[in-house]
Amino acid sequence: MTPPSNEAGQSANALDNLLTESRTFPPSAEFADKANAKADLAERAAADRDAFWAEQARRLSWTAEWDQVLDWSGAPFAKWFVGGKLNVAYNCVDRHVEDGHGEQVAIHWEGEPGDSRTITYADLKDEVSRTANALSSLGLVAGDRVAIYMPMVPEAIYSMLACARLGLTHSVVFAGFSAEALRSRIDDAEAKLVITTDGQYRRGKPAPLKAAVDEAVAQTPTIQKVLVVKRTDTEVEWTEGRDVWWHDVVADQSTEHTPESFDAEHPLFILYTSGTTGRPKGILHTSGGYLTQAAYTHHNVFDHKAGQDVYWCTADIGWVTGHSYIVYGPLANRATQVVYEGTPNTPNEGRHWEIVQKYKVSIYYTAPTLIRTFMKWGADIPAGYDLSSLRVLGSVGEPINPEAWMWYREHVGANRCPIVDTWWQTETGAIMIAPLPGVTACKPGSAMGPLPGIGAKVVDEAGVAVGKGGGGYLVLDQPWPAMLRGIWGDEERFRDTYWSRFADQGFYFAGDGAKYDDDGAIWLLGRVDDVMNVSGHRISTTEVESALVSHAKVAEAAVVGATDPTTGQGIVAFVILRGGVEAGDDVVKELRDHVAKEIGPIAKPRQIMVVPELPKTRSGKIMRRLLRDVAENRQIGDVTTLADSTVMDLISSGLNKGS
Ligand code: WTA
Repeated sequence: MTPPSNEAGQSANALDNLLTESRTFPPSAEFADKANAKADLAERAAADRDAFWAEQARRLSWTAEWDQVLDWSGAPFAKWFVGGKLNVAYNCVDRHVEDGHGEQVAIHWEGEPGDSRTITYADLKDEVSRTANALSSLGLVAGDRVAIYMPMVPEAIYSMLACARLGLTHSVVFAGFSAEALRSRIDDAEAKLVITTDGQYRRGKPAPLKAAVDEAVAQTPTIQKVLVVKRTDTEVEWTEGRDVWWHDVVADQSTEHTPESFDAEHPLFILYTSGTTGRPKGILHTSGGYLTQAAYTHHNVFDHKAGQDVYWCTADIGWVTGHSYIVYGPLANRATQVVYEGTPNTPNEGRHWEIVQKYKVSIYYTAPTLIRTFMKWGADIPAGYDLSSLRVLGSVGEPINPEAWMWYREHVGANRCPIVDTWWQTETGAIMIAPLPGVTACKPGSAMGPLPGIGAKVVDEAGVAVGKGGGGYLVLDQPWPAMLRGIWGDEERFRDTYWSRFADQGFYFAGDGAKYDDDGAIWLLGRVDDVMNVSGHRISTTEVESALVSHAKVAEAAVVGATDPTTGQGIVAFVILRGGVEAGDDVVKELRDHVAKEIGPIAKPRQIMVVPELPKTRSGKIMRRLLRDVAENRQIGDVTTLADSTVMDLISSGLNKGS
């Protein structure tokens, strides 16, 4: 690991620009006046953290009250709301119907081809109950794992909630991942069931999906059934006895289902995310603390008001943002939300704004990479729609550059809507660092500070907090309710990855570089490890390297994330071919396709350079820093620690010849 100033995804230049950013945007008096979160929230949290989180947990309905708010005696394994019991799905669905809100729309679902469905809370209760009854009829019992490999159709949300209702642990696998990625995740979690669709719409066209499941489960001994929703009418292969249609097993089930209560620490889901090794980590989340923080943050950070707002989070349920801010947080808070199936430019580049106009969306939460794409498409596109319903805008997934922030504010938010830049991770389960829209004077590009109840610091190499104006590593210095409860099946890796770097201080090491400005606001600077962030998706360099070297023509590979104006980072690979293999366009295409097949299209390198050697230290470690200099067309940095300092000349001269 090297200091963030070198290794973070941003150039020194961009960093200087960030830290001279002095514009601030306080909330309007009117917004501040009506806001859910006022300044006293932080005071209450500081006065008594446990009491504060207990107060937040009372947003939920519990069948048994907890005896203890936090048990940290088994650190770094936390237990929150010890002894408390609840049903997560009941909290997201049934209680709203019982409270008389059955007719309120839960989901305005918009399909990519233009079909739509309106799902009220009463409908949602019926659908989730049917699905739960169906999953029980397939023999699943609390504690079993279920893989969900689906596009953004309502059945995906019913499936997640039905699992929660039954105490089944879901593992959602992004439907853009490959069969191989699905297989390894099913195996790691030992899932018994996969829920999928026949196909999915991709940029206006149906593409097969079940075919990838067939390929994956041919090699997974634990899978007993494959439950298939018909979405695109794509022809599918059928394995009798294993495959079952959703419309055969779910449709006729009873809409009555009595939810059972589970322990606050009952496993709710596993979500795989990239780390610094080739093998994705199964991040484990549990029930009571997770739902508490998801609901608390959704209420305060987005200023969400049930029955008034129309909320839209543009993430996919395959990522943690979709878990916490499409399914669990908003539904626990009785949100009316938009769920959109498709891509932002189908059938045209105004699709998102058309949806905002159609449903009068008031809270819109998206990723910087999409904002930069909108910028590229031009401000005249949002200008063609009525966006006056919007009142809060959010950003997540990667650092947002001030230019994109200002564009978002002006062209989407009409200089009226507060922008909340939210920092968090799959591991944190819910938002950790963000402004409160009615309290904080926001700065373009800064996530500002930890939320009330959350402890975050920027520290130096030794774990000592740096002062205003100082930079270093982001750490979390207090346990939090939605924190991961471990890596599925790998306690050692959990300790090593997050808790060993600052073991003496007991800090959670997030893997991000950060800096305080002179006012003490936090600026996130990107990852300090070998994790890339491409369009807000986490991909590890080693994962892509492993995929490349699994190809017969590759002898060695090194991968770096190079700064990219739209996607944040782009994947650039350097490969040494095996003897006798000719370099050329064909082999580059073949390797790019191979990576897509091994991991998924999101991991396809933007560029592959064939090189004669790779720069290595005397101990054999690849110096990615130097490769990043090449990938970003910069002057090559210090080469004195290379085993052979002429290697960089060899690489550069070969590339110049080739271009
Ligand atoms: C990055 C996504 C800067 C960060 C919720 C983190 C951010 C990783 C922000 C987690 C933000 C996320 N500003 N960087 N507002 N939000 N990140 O697990 O590097 O997919 O460690 O969770 O994304 O990505 P993950």
